[in-house]
Amino acid sequence: MKQIILTGIRANNDLTIGNYLGALLPIVDMAKKRAAEYQVNLFVPDLHSFTTPIDHSTLNAQIMQNLRIFTAAGLPLDHPDVHIYRQSYIPAHSELAWIFDCFTGMGEMGRMTQYKDKSAKLSEDRISVGLFNYPVLMAADILLYGATYVPVGEDQTQHLEFTRDIALRMNSQFGELFTAPLPVPKQHEFFGKDQGLRIKDLQDPRKKMSKSDESGKGVIFMSDTPEAASKKIMSAATDSYGEIRFDTKERPGISNLLQILALLGGRNQSVVNAEWEGKSSYGDLKKAVAAIASSFLSDFQARLSQVDGEQIIAKLEASERLMNETANATLLRAQQAVGLRPKA
Ligand code: TRP
Repeated sequence: MKQIILTGIRANNDLTIGNYLGALLPIVDMAKKRAAEYQVNLFVPDLHSFTTPIDHSTLNAQIMQNLRIFTAAGLPLDHPDVHIYRQSYIPAHSELAWIFDCFTGMGEMGRMTQYKDKSAKLSEDRISVGLFNYPVLMAADILLYGATYVPVGEDQTQHLEFTRDIALRMNSQFGELFTAPLPVPKQHEFFGKDQGLRIKDLQDPRKKMSKSDESGKGVIFMSDTPEAASKKIMSAATDSYGEIRFDTKERPGISNLLQILALLGGRNQSVVNAEWEGKSSYGDLKKAVAAIASSFLSDFQARLSQVDGEQIIAKLEASERLMNETANATLLRAQQAVGLRPKA
């Protein structure tokens, strides 16, 4: 049996160029590179997509669109060890999450920084219980399949640690039920340090470019027209040093532009930096970034329009059939352990 690499990508809004470069492309590259040796589970956490309020009328189309985007980015759909599935099509996710809920403390969920950050933006009665126990469902996503490797960005490390905690907690109470994913430092070792890469918001380069950002002015969406993207880049916030230098702490705006330039050009960051550092025209840098972003988006959108939707649906259905088998087997063991089903 191959060890499993598993990851999810949220589908509640249009994908950004930040998601593409920081998450999607590394996932696609990883799937291409690792599928010979590992099983790669790539799933849409659709049940996680409305833990904060969304427009439900577009959710389904959004999910399919995200999958088309992955395909256009080169996801190897025809590889037998790459699986693509929708979380809500595998009912065991919800059922195992409920069981875990009853072994999870209010305190440990309340300490999750993602919960604290997201709930701080909402009034008390708009904070959903789903947002609160989001990590519990995430633990189920991982433990149902016994995944060893889960690429974790900074914002997900606590959730991975919780996944290990609940696995070990259940195992110590009920015997060997779950295979815990490896701890965070081992994940970083396995996936390499590119994991931490985050494209920043163009208007506020101290925070990450986020698809759930309300205004969208600092965010380049994969569906933006090249013209719209150029405009956003030309009005990106910079600094008043008047000299280009790559320094993510002191000059986050300029550094972000240099990063976008390097990534979209598929070039080494230090090479790009050497080309620009010491120059004084922020306008020229913005023009270069706008040009490369425009041609990237028009190429990508052309590829996207060629994607075969039927092929995606066939792949989803085949993966979901298989994943239901694995997930149901794990769920049954958990149900037996807690007394919901007779022991075999
Ligand atoms: N929480 C992840 C994110 O926001 C998405 C996710 C849900 C996930 N379940 C997962 C990632 C399980 C890895 C494993 O990006």
